Amino acid sequence: MTAAVRTQVAIVGAGPAGLVLSHLLAEAGIASIIIDRRSREEIESTIRAGILEQGTIDLLASIEGSRAHTVGLRHDGIELRFDGAGHRIDFAGLAGRSVWLFPQHEALRDLLAARIGAGQDIRFGVTATTVEDASGTLPRVVAVDDAGTGLEIAADFVVGADGSHSVVRRAISGSHDGYFREYPFGWFGILCEAPPSADELIYSNSPDGFALISQRSPTVQRMYFQCAPDADADAMSDAQIWDALQARVPGHALIEGPIFQRDVLRFRSFVARTLRAGRLAIVGDAAHTVPPTGAKGMNLAVADVFLLSRALEGLLLRSDERPLDGWAEAALDRIWKAQHFSWWMTSMLHVAPDATDFDRHRQLGELRTVVGSEAGRTYLAEGYTGWPLG
Ligand code: DHB
Repeated sequence: MTAAVRTQVAIVGAGPAGLVLSHLLAEAGIASIIIDRRSREEIESTIRAGILEQGTIDLLASIEGSRAHTVGLRHDGIELRFDGAGHRIDFAGLAGRSVWLFPQHEALRDLLAARIGAGQDIRFGVTATTVEDASGTLPRVVAVDDAGTGLEIAADFVVGADGSHSVVRRAISGSHDGYFREYPFGWFGILCEAPPSADELIYSNSPDGFALISQRSPTVQRMYFQCAPDADADAMSDAQIWDALQARVPGHALIEGPIFQRDVLRFRSFVARTLRAGRLAIVGDAAHTVPPTGAKGMNLAVADVFLLSRALEGLLLRSDERPLDGWAEAALDRIWKAQHFSWWMTSMLHVAPDATDFDRHRQLGELRTVVGSEAGRTYLAEGYTGWPLG
C-alpha cells in the first residue's frame, strides 16, 4: 500500500537544516512536509558540536519558544594554546561578534517543539528511497515507513537535508560526485561530569597532538583529543583518557570527573559538485562535510537554508526563478570559506602522524604569527564567529 500526498516543498531530513527551512518557509506562507528515517527521540539525542555563530543564534532565537539565549551561553573569545602558554583571541573586540555555546541537541529539541507546535507535517520513521521525475516540475519523493507502508510526496520542490548519505544527492548527481579530502587523524570525544576547566574553550596544540576543552553546562563538559582515525572508543580506561587529555594541554590543569559518554569522530572535508538541479537541492551535510575543528557544520547548514528559503519564495510566491538560479553560487561562496577555515584550523593545530621536525617548527611559526599580530587574531576571529548571513 502506498499513500500519495502533495505539498509545495518536500524536505527529506529533520535535522537543523530541514527544521529551520520548514520554519522559514512557513513564515513566508509556503507549505512543506518533512520526513526523517529516525524517531523524534533519536534526533533529539544526536550529540554534535556546541558552538553557534552569532547569525545562527540570532535566527534560532527568533523562533517561538527558543532557549538559545537562556540555555545558550555567549562566548566572547577562545584560548589558543601552544608551547605551554595560552593566548586569548578576543572575538568581541576583534570582530565585533561573539559565538554561543548551545549544544545542537538542545537546538534540535527547541526546533522540533516549535515546528510540531506550529502544526508542521513532520513524519518520523519514514525513509526516503528515491526521487522520481527528478527532472520535471513535480518531482516525487518515494519513501517507506517502519511498518513497510509506502509514501509518495509530490512537490514543487524537493530539498535533501538528509545527511552525508543523502538520497536526494544521488538523484541530483550521483552520491560520490564531489570534492573530497580525508585526514590522517580523528577526535576522541568525551562527556564528563565536572565543572568547567576554564571560562572559555581551549584549542591546544602540543607535541602529542591536539586537544579541545569545550563545555556543555556548569556541570557537564565536552573534551576531545586527537587520535588515530580508526581508534576504538572502548579501548581506553578513564585514567588513560585523562592522561591523554592532560598531556595535550600542558601548563593547564584539567578538572577531572566521571566520563559518561565517549565517541570517535572522523575527519573529512567534502563538497558536492552539484547542489541543485531543476527542482531539487541539497543542503547541510547532504551538500558538504567539514572537519569538526571550529564547529562550522550546523552553522553552514543554517546559512544554506536561509539563502534557499529566499530563493524558494521567489520561485513559489512570485514565479521568479532568478533567485534560485543564483542560490548554489551564493551558498558555495560561504561553503568554501568555511571549508578553508575548518581545514586551516585543523592543519594549524593537529600534529600529522608523519610530521617532520620541519613541519613542527613551521606550525609553531604559524601559531606565533596568528597570535602575535592584531591582523592574525582578527583573521581567526572573523572566521570563527562567521560571516554575516545574507
Ligand atoms: C565543540 C566542537 C567543536 O568542533 C568545536 O570547534 C568547538 C566546540 C563542542 O562540541 O563543544
